[in-house]
Amino acid sequence: MCGIVGYIGNNSAKEVLLNGLERLEYRGYDSAGIYLLNQDGQFGQLYKEQGRIAALNDKVNAAETTNMGIGHTRWATHGVPSVSNAHPHQSASGRFTLVHNGVIENYQELKADYLADVDLQSETDTEVVVNVIEHFAQTENLDGKEAFKKALAVVEGSYAFALIDNQTPDRLYAAKNKSPLLIGHGEDFNTIVSDAMASIDITNQYIEIHDGEMVTLTNDEVVIENRDGQEISRDPYTAALDANDLGKGTYPYYMLKEIDEQPAAIRRIIQEYQDDQGQLTIDSEIIAAMQASDRIYIIGAGTSMHAGLVGQALFEQLNGIPVEVHVASEFAYNMPLLTEKPFFIFLSQSGETADSRQVLVQVNELGYDSLTITNVKGSTLSREASYTLLLHVGPEIAVASTKAYTGQIAVMAVLADVLANAQGRKLDFDMETELSLVANAMETVVDDKDHLHEIATQIFTDVRNAFYIGRGLDYYVSCEAALKLKEISYIQTEGFAGGELKHGTISLIEDGTPVLAVISQKDTAAHTRGNLEETRARGANTVVITMEGMERQDDQIVIPAVHSLLAPLVTVVPTQLLAYYASLDRDLDVDKPRNLAKAVTVE
Ligand code: F6R
Repeated sequence: MCGIVGYIGNNSAKEVLLNGLERLEYRGYDSAGIYLLNQDGQFGQLYKEQGRIAALNDKVNAAETTNMGIGHTRWATHGVPSVSNAHPHQSASGRFTLVHNGVIENYQELKADYLADVDLQSETDTEVVVNVIEHFAQTENLDGKEAFKKALAVVEGSYAFALIDNQTPDRLYAAKNKSPLLIGHGEDFNTIVSDAMASIDITNQYIEIHDGEMVTLTNDEVVIENRDGQEISRDPYTAALDANDLGKGTYPYYMLKEIDEQPAAIRRIIQEYQDDQGQLTIDSEIIAAMQASDRIYIIGAGTSMHAGLVGQALFEQLNGIPVEVHVASEFAYNMPLLTEKPFFIFLSQSGETADSRQVLVQVNELGYDSLTITNVKGSTLSREASYTLLLHVGPEIAVASTKAYTGQIAVMAVLADVLANAQGRKLDFDMETELSLVANAMETVVDDKDHLHEIATQIFTDVRNAFYIGRGLDYYVSCEAALKLKEISYIQTEGFAGGELKHGTISLIEDGTPVLAVISQKDTAAHTRGNLEETRARGANTVVITMEGMERQDDQIVIPAVHSLLAPLVTVVPTQLLAYYASLDRDLDVDKPRNLAKAVTVE
């Protein structure tokens, strides 16, 4: 993971770097650092702190103004979070300074082969690489660029690098393999960023960098070279990001803002996928590819995989196509036997998740069609899949995913609907109307915050464990609800199939254990209620989340009625808010839970 940023240009670098790192903090927040160099190369200033970017602010603000620099925010892979392991890392002589996002797999070998005499200061793979660059510069008398190239040829693994050579203070170098990297291009300046978000305040023009490419940047020039040293010309694209969408506004946390944005996001999805006549529409090539397939494989991680479970129900019930949902990290190395005509759907908010990308690489090698459903235009998974559908839910900044989950389900609902039309299957409901009702129902739930906060305080205070239970679609929502609660409140929570609890796990129920049942499906409601009673009989503190028309007198959370297939879009919302308030009550940093990062770009 980690985020990198670099700036070279006519203005002061430090503000751009600090602002960029703050924007990239979602990629990791174990430590942060910045290196500033003035363009006559006379002095370089290195600042590193453990923890959040804010810890760097005072020192960097007080630093000399320079026109170039690189910065990094870290999610620890090699070595504990500490100042010595924080990036940027410098070579032994101090000549080269490097920031890195990724994992170098052969760093131990590189150390043994080239750095026997170097006294390394950190436990990181990155410090090894920057010293290997210096090794080639010194032993083979190469200039910085050639030494960097030579190092890239022996490095194995994933990386987005930004490099400064003090001897060439009029240029920055960058290189990419598997980890995301873009060049931001402006008048008299260029930036290196892991995500366009990092420099969107100063430019919306970005150049994609592909795996195996190396870049040299000056104030006004971007030179891209491939592994063979051939220059590549590539035009910038305009990033569809609005800097205004990136703030929290009056909200205390991004997560609350993003939960609240869900009704509007669903309405935007309806609009984005409407044709001139107001009919839902999807690129006909995608529909044709799906029609030609005999099985859909949905691949994702975490929350996105949970959205995939709901997608499975949509495609199977509305389109009659068998669907398998797989955890990306498992599928990549334990691929099941595939059918003759598989179609792959990759669900990924960021479009950068390394586990999912690893599957896509294999799917491409096998020559199968794939569709990425993502929030980030131009992301790796989007570029490398045969087709892309965008979520249009706006940037999701909180580490805990909320609106991307509902956005993914809504886009799959539209896709299933358009596909059903193409298949000549007549649905007994109008998808567009039902999705609009979903948006209205979500609004009612997000307006019920005080009530949900009360419930969260009442059931989660001082507990260490909790359960969500449900059956079918309600089980899938339970899995997502449990993930949300545990990741931001640190209450160990399991999402469980209601009927399965009594086959072992019920032994964990004690006096006061919160058990929350999601009950939105008529055919299984009575059974789930029975399962909840079984836990209550053993002391559980029970809560029912259900839908109007199915509620009983004492049910605590009743959402407005929506189509049963789309119920997950609404039942999940109170569970997001319960998680939010549980985290808030514990005085935790809701948006940045410990040990996590938003875009998981390492396998
Ligand atoms: C949990 C969460 C993660 C992500 C997962 C996949 O709240 O956000 O579980 O869903 O890391 O990320 P994407 O969707 O970016 O591939």
